[in-house]
Amino acid sequence: MLEYFVSFSIFAFIASWLLRQLIRGAMPARCASRRRLDGKTAVVTGANVGIGFETARDLAQRGARVLIACRDVAQGENAARLINGDVDVVKLDLSDLNSVRRCAKHINHNEERLDILVNNAGLFGCGESRTADGYEMHMAVNHLGHFLLTNLLLDKMRRTGEDVRIVNVSSREHLRGKMHLDDLHFKQRPYSRT
Ligand SMILES: NC(=O)c1ccc[n+]([C@@H]2O[C@H](COP(=O)([O-])OP(=O)(O)OC[C@H]3O[C@@H](n4cnc5c(N)ncnc54)[C@H](OP(=O)(O)O)[C@@H]3O)[C@@H](O)[C@H]2O)c1
Repeated sequence: MLEYFVSFSIFAFIASWLLRQLIRGAMPARCASRRRLDGKTAVVTGANVGIGFETARDLAQRGARVLIACRDVAQGENAARLINGDVDVVKLDLSDLNSVRRCAKHINHNEERLDILVNNAGLFGCGESRTADGYEMHMAVNHLGHFLLTNLLLDKMRRTGEDVRIVNVSSREHLRGKMHLDDLHFKQRPYSRT
């Protein structure tokens, strides 16, 4: 019995180590690309902190002009100062569709091109709350705001060329929940995180 237990423990240890190596290899923690992005323009939402900030920094270091789209312009400007490159800030509150429209208008009027759009900003676990438009907050910030922003910037991206890219940052958290497609904003059923 003891022998069986020891062999099983060794097998489980080796299997979990191999799995970790496999996941690490498949999903590097850092961007490994060295491709230069000189002359290209990128917009990264929620780039004042976190993953968005690191993304903006990496794109700027590889030569791209980067627009930090965030709701707190002062924080965005702080972040821009920390990045050594061609970085500007544009106000974007994804919970307010008018702010999304203003942000898109600003980019469409002021930028010559748009090569990369990273829809990174996200909200998780803020509890039950609604936007001024009456939408459930997570649905509004994580989905509707970015959906509208993307659509309003599509023409600019199409005109920029064929080598353009839109990245939607997501999370595996959705695997734990369930979409209520008939009641996306919890208007009929009680609010629940899942
Ligand atoms: N970190 C993780 O382990 C992880 C795992 C899976 C997926 N993700 C995804 O990765 C993305 C970035 O995550 P993170 O960890 O870097 O998050 P974070 O540090 O919390 O940053 C979130 C960003 O979203 C912005 N944001 C929130 N509400 C907004 C609104 N109404 N309008 C505009 N911007 C708003 C925040 O702005 P403020 O600074 O003003 O609040 C902040 O810039 C998210 O989409 C998240 O779901 C993260």
